[in-house]
Amino acid sequence: MTPPTLTTWVRVCALADLAVERGAAALVDGEQLALVRLVDGTVLAVQQLDPFCGSHVLARGIVGSRTVDGASVPTLSSPMYKQVFDLRTGACLDAVGRVPLDGLAADLRTWAVRVVDGGVEVSP
Ligand code: FES
Repeated sequence: MTPPTLTTWVRVCALADLAVERGAAALVDGEQLALVRLVDGTVLAVQQLDPFCGSHVLARGIVGSRTVDGASVPTLSSPMYKQVFDLRTGACLDAVGRVPLDGLAADLRTWAVRVVDGGVEVSP
């Protein structure tokens, strides 16, 4: 029998700790995340590991936006080779002609994030 899945939340920082449209690295459950606070106060989380260079650098990426299917989506561009990722889904939108390192997916893992009482919480 499979036990019911419970969503747990881990508080990682205060919303005020995050500069708008600047990435911040966090360690949750042994995994490095890149947190990004958008202008509207939304916080999104993707993996900190850049699959195209193998280094944990995505929190130092450039936050921007792209039009996908007619809608503007928030993006993060790698500080290394400039791949562009959809911050909401982790999807690699532009691989700029490169392939990810062996064994790594081009798309990023994402985490659910919520803001409660001024604190940023991530579901591991
Ligand atoms: S491994 Fe993260 S910057 Fe070098």
